[in-house]
Amino acid sequence: MQSKAIYILTLSLAVLITACSPKDPIEQKVDQLLKQMTLDEKIGQMRQLEGGMMSDDLAGQIRAGQVGSLLNCANPQDVNYYQRIAVEDSRLGIPLLMGRDVIHGFKTIYPIPIGQAATWNPDLITLASRQTAMEATQVGIRWTFSPMVDVARDARWGRLAEGYGEDTYLTSVMGAATVRGYQGDSLNDPTAMAACVKHFAAYGASESGRDYNTTWIPEIMLRDVYLPPFKACLDAGAQTVMCSFNDINGLPSTANSHLNIDILRNEWGFDGLLVSDWGSSSDLVPHGLCADKKEACMRSFKAGLELEMEGHTWDYLKEWMAEGKITEKDIDDCVRDILRVKFRLGLFDHPYSADTTLFYQSEALQLAQRTVEESAILLKNDGVLPLDTSKCRTILITGPLADAPKEQLGTWIFDGEPEHSITPLAAFRNMSGADIVFEPCLNYSRDTSHAMFAKTIAAARKADVILYFAGEEAILSGEARCRADINLPGAQSLLMAELAKTGKPIVLVVMAGRPLTIGKELNLANAVLYSFHAGTMTGPGLYNVMTGIVNPSGKLPMTMPKMVGQVPIYYNRHNTGRPATTPMLIDNIPVGCPQFSIGQSSYHLEVGDQPLFPFGYGLSYTTFEYSAVELHRIDSENFVASCTVTNTGERDGQEIVQLYTHQKSGDLVRPIKELKGFTKVFIPKGESRVVEIPFTASQLGYWHQSFDQHDSHVWFATDDVDYELWLAPNSNVQTAPVSFRLHN
Ligand code: GLC
Repeated sequence: MQSKAIYILTLSLAVLITACSPKDPIEQKVDQLLKQMTLDEKIGQMRQLEGGMMSDDLAGQIRAGQVGSLLNCANPQDVNYYQRIAVEDSRLGIPLLMGRDVIHGFKTIYPIPIGQAATWNPDLITLASRQTAMEATQVGIRWTFSPMVDVARDARWGRLAEGYGEDTYLTSVMGAATVRGYQGDSLNDPTAMAACVKHFAAYGASESGRDYNTTWIPEIMLRDVYLPPFKACLDAGAQTVMCSFNDINGLPSTANSHLNIDILRNEWGFDGLLVSDWGSSSDLVPHGLCADKKEACMRSFKAGLELEMEGHTWDYLKEWMAEGKITEKDIDDCVRDILRVKFRLGLFDHPYSADTTLFYQSEALQLAQRTVEESAILLKNDGVLPLDTSKCRTILITGPLADAPKEQLGTWIFDGEPEHSITPLAAFRNMSGADIVFEPCLNYSRDTSHAMFAKTIAAARKADVILYFAGEEAILSGEARCRADINLPGAQSLLMAELAKTGKPIVLVVMAGRPLTIGKELNLANAVLYSFHAGTMTGPGLYNVMTGIVNPSGKLPMTMPKMVGQVPIYYNRHNTGRPATTPMLIDNIPVGCPQFSIGQSSYHLEVGDQPLFPFGYGLSYTTFEYSAVELHRIDSENFVASCTVTNTGERDGQEIVQLYTHQKSGDLVRPIKELKGFTKVFIPKGESRVVEIPFTASQLGYWHQSFDQHDSHVWFATDDVDYELWLAPNSNVQTAPVSFRLHN
């Protein structure tokens, strides 16, 4: 009896404290403003329209308080024109939230996000994102639809270019670093740009790597693989989330209340705003979920959608209210989140763009170049790199990406300017003392013409070294740009074969929006450098790496397949009950052999079970040796793994030390390896550094589920089993692991 009295007393006190506690000033402002708003003005705040061109109709809607946000206003004149109407002409003067896809730079363009991931340097990416925000907010863009944290295991999918690769942990770290850069130290600083974590959720699992396609994902996989990067970005303070186009198990995300309410709001406590993707609410009709846009309005609203990007289903909200299916309180709860973000950004205090144009500042360009240098991945090198330009007197530069200022910027470039791009050709001409001979041979990546082959090969015969810049045009990756064949397009592979016949050393540089199947070209090249479309400073960055001014340190954020038929292929896979031990490849199978004579294990006959290069792989101009790993138990939750890494080569260099774990048994089968930590360390030649990487027991946990037919709940837990741990240069090393149990 006494405990019940205490419980009631405690509860009453809590209610009293809450009722009396001074509300957060922003909450007070939101409440006060909300009370003044008409229903039309409230619904107006829930609409985002495109503002890329001057429109009297749009101006009229804004003046009437029927628009809350614009996207694609990207110059100070347009921004201020529409903002003045909202702030000075509309009844309540609520400022517009100006959004834009500022995905990897605004004017100064950085490597595409998959390239940024290849740096494994979150601090660098935070600095780059901060510079991006400083450029974009000058013109009045205070909201970017970035970072995209869709884990992607399928190289056919064009949008992997916008994400951070196949690994949940690396994507989480890089996404959060990007949020911190965009939003800075204070959201109401005029240079703060609200981040938008997208696409919620699991868009990267689009079946067959075909964009917008369906996904089939068990709840435990959704929570283990695809959701953690979103949570990491929200923990970093991201103010907005965008729905994804795909359905998960038949339910499009825009209409998925389990995602948008149960998880995003109730489990994670998100209090920012949820925006649709472009028309993803009206897409519920072609999805086949809704019969018409009126039903799409209801399904989206009831699933937690708040700001509708160009979907125009919110036109039916008042009809649903008249039918009693949606209340004004429901509308208020939705508008509250939108107003909260606007107040947090300080838009009511400083709504107008600074109208300055400090673009391409030296700090931004230097950061962009450094990001190019650290994103370059050395996949092969027989010693031809670094180039000794004192010996390479005549250098042939060839290939469709050698002097392609627009293509090297990559996908999702609205404001980047090719005229500011410095290409590899320009860099070598400006920076090397060698005689640079330029023969593009192919005018664009899909070019199949052989018209310039003879001239190019003739030039190659006279050169000391061939620098072949191959890859993809920007248009071959990004949204709705998925490929069923991920070889080098056009006649690039044929050109490689012809160049190889000259016997001259070839440095192949691949500039693409995805991993490509370059096995044939790899065999013919003396060195291969992979550079996911690297932006404005591609030329100087690659020049510095290729000439050894900078020692390459980039490592693959995504597995590189040998053949597209292996896709999806990723490092943190299950072992299967029949792992491939000694696969007999198709050309070695004896003719007429009996069916079970060549063994039964898990691999493809043409290529085995291994990729061309594994996740986390990348070479250096120096070499590093790892000592045995030591494991230090701090307490039941905190551990530290350490080893000594020695630079055993002739050059200073950076090494990305990766921490992988594996559990040898469990309630469910678990991946053969999982990245749980990493650090990037500079080690002068001949010196050693002790590397320590902390991790926690909870990081080793995963989502379990009951398979009881009457009990479908899921829960997060760690298994008390034997674990193994590696500190390694990539995901595929077979050094002896350290074994341990979580609980002594
Ligand atoms: C696009 C993309 C999304 C982008 C939005 C606005 O369809 O899916 O990533 O932010 O529309 O351009």
